[in-house]
Amino acid sequence: MKKLILSFYAWLDQRLLPIAAKHRLLANCYYALFNPHFRREQWATVAGRNHYRVYEASCQIASVILRRNLHRLEKGLSMSVRKPLFALDYIDETLSALQNYLQHTDAIDPVLLTYCHDVLQQYFAVTTWPTAAPQPAFFSTLQQQVRLHLPANSKGDSAAPKPYGARVRADISYPEFLQLCQQRCSTRNFLAKPVEQSILEQAVSAAAQAPSACNRQPFRYIAALSQPMLGKLAALPMGTVGYAHNIPAILAVVGDLSAYPFERDRHVIYIDASLANMQLMLALETLGLASCAINWPDIENYELKIGQLLALKPFERVVMLIAVGYPDPAGLVPHSEKKTPAELIQYV
Ligand SMILES: Cc1cc2nc3c(=O)[nH]c(=O)nc-3n(C[C@H](O)[C@H](O)[C@H](O)COP(=O)(O)O)c2cc1C
Repeated sequence: MKKLILSFYAWLDQRLLPIAAKHRLLANCYYALFNPHFRREQWATVAGRNHYRVYEASCQIASVILRRNLHRLEKGLSMSVRKPLFALDYIDETLSALQNYLQHTDAIDPVLLTYCHDVLQQYFAVTTWPTAAPQPAFFSTLQQQVRLHLPANSKGDSAAPKPYGARVRADISYPEFLQLCQQRCSTRNFLAKPVEQSILEQAVSAAAQAPSACNRQPFRYIAALSQPMLGKLAALPMGTVGYAHNIPAILAVVGDLSAYPFERDRHVIYIDASLANMQLMLALETLGLASCAINWPDIENYELKIGQLLALKPFERVVMLIAVGYPDPAGLVPHSEKKTPAELIQYV
């Protein structure tokens, strides 16, 4: 019976597809009335926006707002022709986010607070405020509160913008970097050797250096290093058939849609997390490990299972899984021919 219903659904889908493809409104009807495959994404997006709005004063959302707005301030501060006054449309929001953040004394991150302090201090030091619109009272009240929470040794390197030439430079040549990229390959044969947390944390530290839209870094890694969680997680996605039993560690990369008040940013979790994942996978290679990205299918049934297994919130979405382990030197690796630069670049 189930087979019959499925084949009828497939038959109907084939007939509705060309109609839905004719016009945007018909496509909307097709997805609203017939095809349910975007519903999970819609729910996650709405749940994320609602969480952002309802919990705006929470430590988590305040830190999201701070990261985004501090980054915008830094951009303004770094312009070669800097405006005498800028950020008027979001400086108040930044200060109230800081005020909210400071309420959560048990959860304050001194690194974020130092960054906050240094950027805002520079901002208020270089902007010129007209007498008709005086500076918000940051220095008189908030800055003192911020300083109470800063670590005693925070007098060192400022977290405000500094010249490109003053940044740390890696002593890596292009041939060396290319070789590292060529060394990385999707590996599915691992040694039966556990993966240490400390190594994973080193790789995640490299992942954290990746760019992200407005520096929001809207993702986290959930690591399964031992049974029974490892086996349960490895068996979930479709792409681990034949080697699920042989994966020593799995990272679930989880995006957080509560970092955004608007739908327009709903794809950013996938972009930001993937940029970080690439750095993570290259870092793993330098640490003697190998990895394989594993597709996470957006299928209701699978979403329910992983949501329960990892206790995910409705606005959290799995971006992908990553199998990690020490590679078996004798294990075969697919060649996976790459495209050439000529195929990949178009000059316009
Ligand atoms: C987003 C993504 C999803 C992938 N999903 C799977 C998967 O489910 N199972 C798998 O064995 N490999 C998976 N891979 C690995 C690809 O097959 C592999 O990256 C590709 O063939 C190129 O090979 P290389 O990684 O060795 O360069 C995935 C890779 C990416 C980037």
